Amino acid sequence: MSIENIAPEYIRAIAPYQGGKPISEIAREYGLNEADIIKLASNENPLGMSPNAQVAIGAAIVDVARYPDGNGFELRTAVSRKYGVPQSQIVFGNGSNDILELSARAFLQVGDEAIYSQHAFAVYPLVTQAVGATGIVVPAKGYGHDLDGFLKAITPKTRLIFIANPNNPTGTLIDKTTLASFLKQVPKNVLVILDEAYDEYLSSHDKSEAVSWLSTYENLIISHTFSKAYGLAGLRVGFGLMHTDVADILNRIRQPFNVNLLAQAAAVASLADDGFVARSYAANQAGMLQLTQGLEQLGLQYIESYANFISFAVKNAENVNEQLLQHGIIVRPIANYDMPDYLRVSIGLFSENKRFLEALALVVKNND
Ligand SMILES: Cc1ncc(COP(=O)(O)O)c(C=O)c1O
Repeated sequence: MSIENIAPEYIRAIAPYQGGKPISEIAREYGLNEADIIKLASNENPLGMSPNAQVAIGAAIVDVARYPDGNGFELRTAVSRKYGVPQSQIVFGNGSNDILELSARAFLQVGDEAIYSQHAFAVYPLVTQAVGATGIVVPAKGYGHDLDGFLKAITPKTRLIFIANPNNPTGTLIDKTTLASFLKQVPKNVLVILDEAYDEYLSSHDKSEAVSWLSTYENLIISHTFSKAYGLAGLRVGFGLMHTDVADILNRIRQPFNVNLLAQAAAVASLADDGFVARSYAANQAGMLQLTQGLEQLGLQYIESYANFISFAVKNAENVNEQLLQHGIIVRPIANYDMPDYLRVSIGLFSENKRFLEALALVVKNND
């Protein structure tokens, strides 16, 4: 028996997550200077992080010989205040992916089913398969979630439903009324994970109201991240808001020190800097307009996005991606999301978006 066969069949069947390649790797592979490379591949914040967070990291660094606070007291206090949720209803994660994974480990076992949409965030199938449960993929409707289809897909085996709102990589948004009506119809013994990683990029009109639903729905888990608008992707910190009993379950299986000391300090400082989030939102709005106008000028179809990225259709997407890399532009091919004719580009700074559009214009012309 070969060594890999010791792992259960459902583990061996998992296709590894394909992340955006780091700038250093592309520089090596394509013989480019790192300084000339633009990475618009992982939906990171082009403004970086809040200056407050930088100061907080500097101040906290002298303490890294110590373990972090396993309960994240200061961060818990800050999140509780910001979202108006009792402290007992918050679980912290090593990124919000950790919350997704903890939920799967806590509530799914072999033979159970988890529902998610076609073209939905890649981590949902990953965490589902990792515990030997079965993923049920509901075909997308106009690239978005078909919640009626979700309701029809619920069986006695269903334990978890994953919903990304806005969704990555399509950027689609489910409106609040549709979502509220959906929740009402989901059986109480099925957990709904509402992944709001991009909520800070929504207008005040579209912004989620899900926190106000927590008191009604014991089966609701809302996940948030500091990786996107807060610009702390490299530190890995996110959190889930949920009923106290659900939080208690997740806390039992979470690693005691899953959020590191620098991440906690930076997250607390970031939450206190609303101005930075407002600037990030404004820059994203402007960049989104710049990119959509640019794509329209190139005659390329795109999916209207509510997040900090946009997916656009292009002939020979794989080829176009390769040629963009030769120009030092990293975007994300999304064939693994069942979208082989699309590329996803994150919204960058004005100058980065401009360089991307210029390179894309050349590449598309060459491909015609
Ligand atoms: C929809 C969605 N959820 C969650 C995440 C995970 O973010 P993190 O683990 O960095 O908090 C991402 C990251 O790309 C995402 O797109």
